Amino acid sequence: MKTNNDFKDILLNRRSVRKYKTDVVITDETIKTLFDEALRAPSANNLQPWTFKVIKTLEAKAKYSHLFPWNRNQYETSSFMVVILADKKYASRAEMIYNQQVERGTMAADVRDRHLKAFEEAQVNELDVIKTAYLDAGFVAMNLMLNARAFGLDTCPIGGFDKANAPIAFNLPDHEAVMALSFGVKDDEGYPSLRLGFDAVGSIE
Ligand SMILES: Cc1cc2nc3c(=O)[nH]c(=O)nc-3n(C[C@H](O)[C@H](O)[C@H](O)COP(=O)(O)O)c2cc1C
Repeated sequence: MKTNNDFKDILLNRRSVRKYKTDVVITDETIKTLFDEALRAPSANNLQPWTFKVIKTLEAKAKYSHLFPWNRNQYETSSFMVVILADKKYASRAEMIYNQQVERGTMAADVRDRHLKAFEEAQVNELDVIKTAYLDAGFVAMNLMLNARAFGLDTCPIGGFDKANAPIAFNLPDHEAVMALSFGVKDDEGYPSLRLGFDAVGSIE
């Protein structure tokens, strides 16, 4: 795996790779570092409403194979797959996160208490909660895909899997499956894809 710290190369030359070398072993330590860095992604109120299931071993690949009736090439050749799930329970991690911030001195105790009270009293709209969680999951997914390139890996974002059954398979009833990502050392180049430029999709006033 050839590491890469050239941000422009990471950004501009990322493309979906759907076939990986199958003889590559990526350690759990590497996966955890890749994640810990990508987990710097922003989230609304810093609530981090995401859960990741990493499918790496042959046993795990066999166990969760039924969730991937499509995109078999990525599933079978990747060094590991990640399923990103969004936590539907609003602010479920607020106390844990904010307590740690107070301990580290990055949040005042009274600010934490005010926020926690506000979350408790909030009349939340479930659709808004899940929309925000999906947005947050998207940010972290992009961070993961870009950081993978820094580690010399390529990825493919995958919406085509059995999202309805994934929370059941992982025993996460309070979650929705948002997307999956395959990771590995590329065994083909993928293909260039067109992007509409700013003039086609944006305007400046
Ligand atoms: C939400 C989402 C779902 C996607 N689902 C799939 C998929 O199921 N299978 C696949 O091969 N590619 C999938 N892709 C990859 C897109 O086809 C790809 O990103 C797009 O064509 C642009 O190509 P590039 O990633 O190579 O730049 C998905 C991408 C996104 C963002």
